[in-house]
Amino acid sequence: MSGANSETVLITGASSGIGRELAKGFAAEGSRLILTARNMEALQSLADELCRTHHVEVSVLPADLSRPETPEHIFKELQGRGTAVDVLVNNAGFGAWGRFAGLPLPRQLEMLQVNITALVQLTGLFLPGMVRRRCGGVLNVASVAAFVPGPGMAVYYATKACVLSFTEALAQELAGTNVTATALCPGPTATNFGQVAQADPARMVRQVRMSAAAVALYGLRSFRKGKAVAVPGLQNRLLIWLARLGPRPMVRKLAGKFNGI
Ligand SMILES: NC(=O)c1ccc[n+]([C@@H]2O[C@H](COP(=O)([O-])OP(=O)(O)OC[C@H]3O[C@@H](n4cnc5c(N)ncnc54)[C@H](OP(=O)(O)O)[C@@H]3O)[C@@H](O)[C@H]2O)c1
Repeated sequence: MSGANSETVLITGASSGIGRELAKGFAAEGSRLILTARNMEALQSLADELCRTHHVEVSVLPADLSRPETPEHIFKELQGRGTAVDVLVNNAGFGAWGRFAGLPLPRQLEMLQVNITALVQLTGLFLPGMVRRRCGGVLNVASVAAFVPGPGMAVYYATKACVLSFTEALAQELAGTNVTATALCPGPTATNFGQVAQADPARMVRQVRMSAAAVALYGLRSFRKGKAVAVPGLQNRLLIWLARLGPRPMVRKLAGKFNGI
């Protein structure tokens, strides 16, 4: 069945959390979806649910973005099918909790690959087509972590700073093209993120977390408005404002305390 609008949306990390909720949001608008992640079972069950409830066309593509060849494979696969991607949602990502010197280096490097390299590569592969067609956009999932240095999750915060800077710069470059770029910057959100990052469960319980559905809805609305930066939740917007005003040594100390360092 085909969607109510003619737009095709590619979403990475659609098997759980914010990506899964973004998929539901785009499906509710009638978009045609291509969902990717490693967990095929979760993707297929989401695809079946979205086809049933929203009568949209959904296809699933297994993809491990820690492998450097994956973005090119996705691009070639979709080219082969004759599918033009109108909206790219770079949502896949993960963190690792702990002091940098004590964490396995390969996992940190994998994080750079998934959170930054794959995101930049997918954007580089799909954005030129959008610009040529003068429609569409990129929605990149960064974090409030992008605004501060993050002792206790040093590499993760740095990856998100890169995503935010890259996306804001793109948004500016794209002005006047009818193509947009949005960085969605959630604060703590109730997903599998903490478990994957092996964060201290006691700290996770104490955190005030938004629902993935509320974050995704805010992200989708902001994307539709063409906003360059979208921070869901008043508390998160306040935190960023304080981080901008506060002296940097104090900000990094507080961020470390937040991460239990
Ligand atoms: N939750 C938060 O508090 C929070 C706050 C700010 C920003 N974020 C960001 O939000 C995004 C989504 O995370 P989430 O909170 O929804 O966590 P999540 O529930 O753990 O979802 C992460 C998604 O990324 C995918 N992914 C991870 N590694 C991958 C890989 N190697 N290849 C392909 N896909 C991969 C996972 O799919 P598979 O495991 O099936 O591959 C999953 O669909 C991330 O970029 C995260 O940094 C989260």
